[in-house]
Amino acid sequence: MKINGGIPLHGTIKTQGAKNAALPVMAVCLLLRGGTLTLDNVPELYDVNTMIELLKDLGVEIKINRDEKNSQVIFKVPEDLKWEVSETLARKMRASSLVLGPLLANYGRVSLPLPGGCSIGARPIDLHLKGLKQMGAEIEIANGVVHAQVKGKLRGRRIYLDFPSVGATENLMMAASLATGETIIENIAREPEIDNLAAALRCVGVPVELEGTGDVRIKGIEKTSSGRERVIPDRIEACTYILAGIITNGHIKIEDIVPSHIDAILAKLEESGAKFKVKKNMIEIFPTKKKLHPVSIKTMPYPGFPTDSQPQMAAALALARGVSTIEENVFQARFLYAQELNRMGADIQISRDVAIIRGVEKLQGTLVKATDLRAGAALIIAGLAAEGQTVVDDMVHVWRGYEAIDKKLKSLGAQVELGVNS
Ligand code: UD1
Repeated sequence: MKINGGIPLHGTIKTQGAKNAALPVMAVCLLLRGGTLTLDNVPELYDVNTMIELLKDLGVEIKINRDEKNSQVIFKVPEDLKWEVSETLARKMRASSLVLGPLLANYGRVSLPLPGGCSIGARPIDLHLKGLKQMGAEIEIANGVVHAQVKGKLRGRRIYLDFPSVGATENLMMAASLATGETIIENIAREPEIDNLAAALRCVGVPVELEGTGDVRIKGIEKTSSGRERVIPDRIEACTYILAGIITNGHIKIEDIVPSHIDAILAKLEESGAKFKVKKNMIEIFPTKKKLHPVSIKTMPYPGFPTDSQPQMAAALALARGVSTIEENVFQARFLYAQELNRMGADIQISRDVAIIRGVEKLQGTLVKATDLRAGAALIIAGLAAEGQTVVDDMVHVWRGYEAIDKKLKSLGAQVELGVNS
């Protein structure tokens, strides 16, 4: 993507459906035997397409109805599905691991080539496997493929997660839906995407009690029914555009947000002196004559500051007045973007899990590489504020999570253009 920087953004855009909510909620269809799952507000993204292909390959019939008002996907599930996941599709993204729980619960067996995904450090699925074993599954890993099976049905029980992993919480919630008896999962992830999954499970008949206390209780049922649910707005996408507005000193409105989902980010933006106003489901960013104040950020599981927003925040802080720090506590190797931002004139030093960001006067456009999805978003944000032209290479990572980012930015007045390979 070629970006001619220095233009303040102005106008209004709408948030897409959340990638990280859509992927688990799509996997819910694997709990059905016959019937349909209808999902509204499903974003059009590479990862969503990969999940669609993966589900189709297992035997689910999928119909997509997209128009200006909605992006609906209907999953028509036959009585029987394949339980061997395609290697090429599984390796394309880490979220393919989300089919493990529902397939095992519904078919008593599954084989899943270990998934790939963004290169942001070691991303094991040991917590997913430990929980499934506690529910009675026998699991073996041979030649990079997870083979799991259970005699009879998975058995409900109390499971404590050593870390509130988003994916493990989701996989185990889906597994518990068709298990015998009640499952209580403790120390679960509390991201808003978990609430969306709980709603999707309830819509197919699974009683899920989620009280925001860090536990979830699920009474397994015999058979799920058809259902319909809406994917929540993408809080990470919303924050990307908020920061694009701030870094260009623009005046933009972002519609279809849930303000409480982005509290941690808004708190830090307030501390940094950014000017914005939040209404029921909208945020307005105002221009200001002042540079951002530096801030210190620590990424944490929700409701802490999201790891998925730290690279974009770093881009904005690269132009702050003073020294900011970002401590990464969720993933290893999440600072690969720093050397790319430094090529644009930023001054970011990495010391183990901490990025030390010394604010500079200006950034200059140059050729940079998106090393992963959110790194790509950070470079685009930096490019929007930089002098001259920035070229962001390896846009393939960005398309995994941002629907029509070129068109949305253009509608806000940005000068961006896709290259032939984008
Ligand atoms: C999800 C999001 C991702 C986000 C992350 C944290 C999706 C599709 N992706 O990823 O965008 O950055 O939550 O908010 O929803 N871990 C283990 N063992 C496990 C599982 C996780 O050690 O079995 C570790 C991971 O390596 C990582 C940390 O726990 O260091 C967080 O991972 P997790 O919460 O599981 O994130 P994902 O579900 O992969």
